[in-house]
Parts: sequence; structure tokens; C-alpha cells
Amino acid sequence: MSSNIVWHEASVTKDERRSQNKHQSFILWFTGLSASGKSSIANAFARQLYERGNQAFVLDGDNVRHGLNKDLGFDESGRKENIRRIGEVSKLFIESGQIVLTAFISPYREDRQVVRELVEDGEFIEVFVKCSVETCEKRDPKGLYKKARKAEIANFTGISAPYEEPENPEIILDSEHHTVEECVEQLTSILTAKGYI
Ligand code: ADX
Repeated sequence: MSSNIVWHEASVTKDERRSQNKHQSFILWFTGLSASGKSSIANAFARQLYERGNQAFVLDGDNVRHGLNKDLGFDESGRKENIRRIGEVSKLFIESGQIVLTAFISPYREDRQVVRELVEDGEFIEVFVKCSVETCEKRDPKGLYKKARKAEIANFTGISAPYEEPENPEIILDSEHHTVEECVEQLTSILTAKGYI
């Protein structure tokens, strides 16, 4: 980083934006295998937050890789940079007073930890969307597991690349045995009880 860059203080603070919005701003970091339900649950919950009048926005792996991160692949370094950028973008969302819901496989513990440490205590809520690889493979909505089995896709998470489960996530959603609606209900009750929303 250039030593000629000087931080400029914002004229409106994070706390002022939070009090205008009447809720906390934080990251709900959904992590889990492809087809585990991250995007569906994040989008359903964002819809509910919107209807309650909360400021919430979803950043989704497949979508972000069409634009901001279209230069990145799925090897370890591509995934690391993907998560680093999303962490930085999410931090900006927190500053703007919003709830940001991120739906990225984010398979490496170390990369998720980097994001946790980037923001303040309590601003990073790790949500493990738990679903076995067998079930994800049965669902296979995009036909990617099938391609991965035939080695038509390299480094596919759960098949030919690792997924490191979170050790101490704030929230675990069992998306193998519960519907999207049930997972959303679980999120609402936990976040309400903790005073986030
Ligand atoms: S991450 O590992 O870097 O966090 P991200 O969530 O952005 O992944 O993108 C995952 C999506 O990209 C999957 O849902 C799937 O549709 C697609 N994809 C394409 N190639 C791969 C691959 N090798 N491994 C996992 N997902 C892949």
C-alpha cells in the first residue's frame, strides 16, 4: 500500500446510520457446500428483513463471480482472494449501516477467520449451512456434481477440493432436515434474542 494514502473520516458515522436504521449492522456469513441452501436461505431471510423495514443485502458467490470477482478461479488462491474481497466489501456494508448476508462456499477456515478479524467483535456471525455432500449431490440443481464426478470440473468442493467445516459457528442451520422457511425462522429467533434485529 502506498504511504501517500491517508484515511479520510466519514461525515456520517456507522453509529448514526445504525440509529437511523433502528437496527445493528453486521455480516451474516453463510458457509457450506454448493447446493446446501446458502443462497436460498440468505435470500428468503433478506426478503423477510426487507419486509420488516430493515436494510439488508445479499452478496452471492455465483453472482459476484459474474462481476467483481470474474477474474478469479477456484484454486486455493482464487478462493482466498474471492473471500478477501467479499470481506472488504462486507465491511463497507457494515459501515453503511446495513445487514449483509454473504452466500459463499468459503471452504477454508483460515479465510473465514481473516474476515472475522477484519471487523469488530460481534459484527461477524458465521452461519454454517449444514448438509451432507451426499444430499447436495442428490440435489445437484446446476448439474455441477455430475460434471465434477466425471472430472469435467476440477477442484470441486466436496468432491475434488476440501470443505473445512466451521469449528465454532455462531449458528448452525441443518438444511438437510429442515426447510428454507424453518431455517429462516431459526435465524429470526436467534438474532432477535441476541438483539441484532
Ligand atoms: S468459494 O469457494 O470461492 O467461496 P463461491 O461461493 O464464490 O466459492 O462460488 C461457488 C459457486 O461456483 C458454486 O455454487 C458453483 O455454482 C460454482 N462453481 C464452479 N466451479 C466450482 C468449483 N470448482 N467448486 C465449487 N463451486 C464451483
